[in-house]
Amino acid sequence: MTTWFDSPADAAKRLHDSGYLADTATATTAYLAGALEKPLLVEGPAGVGKTELAKAVARATGAELVRLQCYEGLDEARALYEWNYKKQLLRIQAAGDQSWEQTHDDIFTEEFLLTRPLLTAIRREEQTVLLVDEVDKTDVEVEGLLLEVLSDFQVTIPEMGTVSAVRRPFVVLTSNATRELSEAVKRRCLFLHLDYPDAAREKEIVVSQVPGVADRLAAELVETVARLRELELKKAPSIAESVDWARTLVALEVDDLDEEAVGATLGVVLKHASDQDKALAALRGHQAGARRR
Ligand SMILES: Nc1ncnc2c1ncn2[C@@H]1O[C@H](COP(=O)(O)OP(=O)(O)OP(=O)(O)O)[C@@H](O)[C@H]1O
Ligand SMILES: [Mg+2]
Repeated sequence: MTTWFDSPADAAKRLHDSGYLADTATATTAYLAGALEKPLLVEGPAGVGKTELAKAVARATGAELVRLQCYEGLDEARALYEWNYKKQLLRIQAAGDQSWEQTHDDIFTEEFLLTRPLLTAIRREEQTVLLVDEVDKTDVEVEGLLLEVLSDFQVTIPEMGTVSAVRRPFVVLTSNATRELSEAVKRRCLFLHLDYPDAAREKEIVVSQVPGVADRLAAELVETVARLRELELKKAPSIAESVDWARTLVALEVDDLDEEAVGATLGVVLKHASDQDKALAALRGHQAGARRR
């Protein structure tokens, strides 16, 4: 019996109840990741709900979220564990005429160990979701560190031995695909490609997250955002931006997304001047076309 989700439908429902609207593929993959105890690699553009999925799994299952945020230069000491050198030095100084062997045995123990997210997640006895966020931002070498955790759910500390998971965490890795991950990592994971949702789902997300947004305005907004995503922009608007846009319009008490409203609020959605120019021209063209029809 899995302790995560009972079925794809159960995953969909519980994710929904904790504020995450998953499509069938997402709910099914989340269920499988739990049932098969396999790490889940979620790939896709910025702001489509990759990180949020891990958080939602934690909320839906009452697990605690342990997060490893990846970045260039992330190393073992930040990802796995590190020895507390200062404390070790103090202990050595205080050792007096104790033999080196004895001191050595004393300073490589739990008391001197600083655990980092991967080791923390492996050692927790309670339900844990381990989020390895933006794994494509790290150097390839870090993937080597991940492999032991992903395939054997264990971490080897040379001075102490191997620490195996008492209870396997639900592992979610996210990637923006800025570089290809190694085949070794991919092979150990279930893969989910997340993309921008269809208009109906995005509208549902907006309506569920923005109290007071009128149905018609949400529909209009989602349609406009979809049109913006078709343009060649430096940075296409994500779901997060749709939600922010709806919040902005509600705050301004705007109930129709006309040219004036778009012009005044486009900065919430597009963060490059050239993108804004392009968008305004395209939307103006569209509205003129609509009027002619
Ligand atoms: N399926 C969904 N249901 C509810 N909210 C969603 C969903 N997908 C995305 N969101 C909303 O979009 C926001 C952005 O999502 P998230 O931070 O997970 O994006 P991301 O894919 O991790 O992006 P990045 O690559 O930039 O880190 C979330 O805070 C959430 O409000
Ligand atoms: Mg993210």
